[in-house]
Amino acid sequence: MNHHFLILTIPTAIAVMTMILSPAQAQNQAETEQGFQHMHTDMKATFLIFLSMEDEYCLGTLIHKQWILTAAHCYLPFIEMNIASNEEFFYSDMGELKFLLSVQHPNFSRDSAEHDLMLIKLETPVELNKQLTLAVLPTATDGKTGENCTVSGWGWTWRTPFTSPDIQVEQKVLWFSEKYCQKPPTRQIPVEVTGNMFCAGVSLDTMQSCTEITAAPILCRNQLQGILSWSEGCVLKGDVGYYTKISRYTDWILRVIHTH
Ligand SMILES: *[C@@H]1O[C@H](CO)[C@@H](O)[C@H](O)[C@H]1NC(C)=O
Ligand SMILES: *[C@@H]1O[C@H](CO)[C@@H](O)[C@H](O)[C@H]1NC(C)=O
Repeated sequence: MNHHFLILTIPTAIAVMTMILSPAQAQNQAETEQGFQHMHTDMKATFLIFLSMEDEYCLGTLIHKQWILTAAHCYLPFIEMNIASNEEFFYSDMGELKFLLSVQHPNFSRDSAEHDLMLIKLETPVELNKQLTLAVLPTATDGKTGENCTVSGWGWTWRTPFTSPDIQVEQKVLWFSEKYCQKPPTRQIPVEVTGNMFCAGVSLDTMQSCTEITAAPILCRNQLQGILSWSEGCVLKGDVGYYTKISRYTDWILRVIHTH
């Protein structure tokens, strides 16, 4: 097996509405609730930022008082940036954040999922507190197969376009091996997974439907190991997500932060 076709397409819709279903699944799907159930978990991510475009969102992850990490496939310009408060209310009363500049990874291109990272600098540093903390960049380099991780994000309890996302979800997932990611059972054609990416989920053979915000961060042992690049199904419900491997980019990230 040396022919892994490149079939990655960067989702053009930013709030990804995932509906890749077989006829049988589609039948079931029509009968089931498609949104997220409200649930109670103690752990809630406190480093998420909403990046709003017209009627779409991307998640950003706060990694420094003045810097947000997100996916390069998120479209600029952002109209608004807000702290994704984990309180009941969507908008934080800490006010809107002001955008100063953005730096895409220089080797990112729209026809590949490789190097799907972008840094955003805020005009002024944010004030950290219990509700707003920094995600920690990874120290280790590689080899996390089998690790327990958590992907954090926001979704919609109902499919209600043009309203704000209304639920924060923490999904426990497993870091899958590269081999497993390349040949998921739900696919006819192998997926190209390079050393700069990894995939994680609960299972590779289900595909659920939901509306969730893209560029969700994944943490393993409390370190930010990935930013969601693309997925099949719904990562916040445990479907497989393909992540940019942050440990491969920490040098670039730190260099950008120190030179801008
Ligand atoms: C981009 O790719 C070139 C050629 O492979 C490489 O030399 C360079 O280091 C890459 N840039 C970054 C920031 O990784
Ligand atoms: C992940 O969690 C499962 C279930 O809690 C546990 O059995 C397993 O050992 C954990 N894996 C690692 C690498 O810590």
